[in-house]
Amino acid sequence: MRMLVLGGTAWLGAAVAEEALRRGHEVTCLARGSAPAPARASFVAADRDLDDGLTAVAGTRWDVVVDVSRHPGQVRRAVRDLDTGHWVFVSTANVYATFGALEQTEDAPRRAPLGGDVLPDMESYGEAKVACEDAVFAAPATATVARSGLIGGPGDDSGRTGYWPWRFAHPVGERVVVPDDLDFPCALVDVRDLAAFLVSAAERRLDGVVNVTGPSVPLREVLDTAARVAAATAQPLPVAAERLRELGVGAWMGPASLPLWVDDPDWRGFATLDTTRARAAGLVTRPLEETLRDALAWEEGSRSSPRRAGLTDDEERRVLAALSGEAGSAG
Ligand SMILES: NC(=O)c1ccc[n+]([C@@H]2O[C@H](COP(=O)([O-])OP(=O)(O)OC[C@H]3O[C@@H](n4cnc5c(N)ncnc54)[C@H](OP(=O)(O)O)[C@@H]3O)[C@@H](O)[C@H]2O)c1
Repeated sequence: MRMLVLGGTAWLGAAVAEEALRRGHEVTCLARGSAPAPARASFVAADRDLDDGLTAVAGTRWDVVVDVSRHPGQVRRAVRDLDTGHWVFVSTANVYATFGALEQTEDAPRRAPLGGDVLPDMESYGEAKVACEDAVFAAPATATVARSGLIGGPGDDSGRTGYWPWRFAHPVGERVVVPDDLDFPCALVDVRDLAAFLVSAAERRLDGVVNVTGPSVPLREVLDTAARVAAATAQPLPVAAERLRELGVGAWMGPASLPLWVDDPDWRGFATLDTTRARAAGLVTRPLEETLRDALAWEEGSRSSPRRAGLTDDEERRVLAALSGEAGSAG
């Protein structure tokens, strides 16, 4: 198979390129060149923000084009300019209009598409991906549109999957601050499993939309697994959302946050997507323990930039000190 990866130099795109190469496919990666493409892939330096940015690859007949873009204009230009037998578009669960309902299938209502060519900020991420999807649906070829849940595992620069095992491996005291909403549904797909699914989908020209994520488990299971892979002796200290807010601790991602949890009933269904279709199409997800163990190894051995989620040691100390002596706290 002759595969063009639009991107292919960052986390998921590179994993897709690696997996396709491993299976013996011919892979070309197109990006501006902020990072190298995987060894053995051909690399084309180009800027997709330019109207003629894809000229260098437009004269080739591709078997499959894989696109990870968040910008509708980039995807529309790719569909306009490229000659391919199949598209694989990496979308997101964020395209769905709400997450109040559990186990949503692929026909659940989406958000309105973003107008314009460029995603202005992450607030409009879901809307931008809807517009990207629409561009791919309009392509004159078959298309796999994979709506991914949270992606995890080694290389998760956001720190969302690495934080919990890392924090349990490096506690600042005898307790680790965790949300008390231990039933909150969590799910993630290991980047390697998602990449394998996408390459298989390309090989089979899987046509249609698929939700792709791992099994939904309660937050307590994520925390237990994180503590186990970290061989932790520190115990969790569950704290109510309101108290966390008072202490300046946020949810999900970003600075001073507790990842994988969202203090919002409207988001309870986010990690419960129905993946029956992806499973039937060959999605295999490894145990959470393996993903968290490898995420921890990556945090310990390969992280080169500051973690962008969780509490720093100073923040964890400050929160533990503030909670010291409160009911239920061991101080
Ligand atoms: N993280 C999650 O939990 C999550 C969940 C659901 C879905 N997703 C989706 O998963 C995908 C992640 O993809 P990824 O890890 O490969 O990271 P990414 O950061 O989306 O990768 C962007 C790629 O496109 C290239 N690129 C950016 N601007 C370009 C331009 N103007 N012209 C040409 N190339 C350009 C980048 O390389 P250069 O900078 O060198 O150009 C890079 O290779 C995205 O589609 C995201 O929406 C993520």
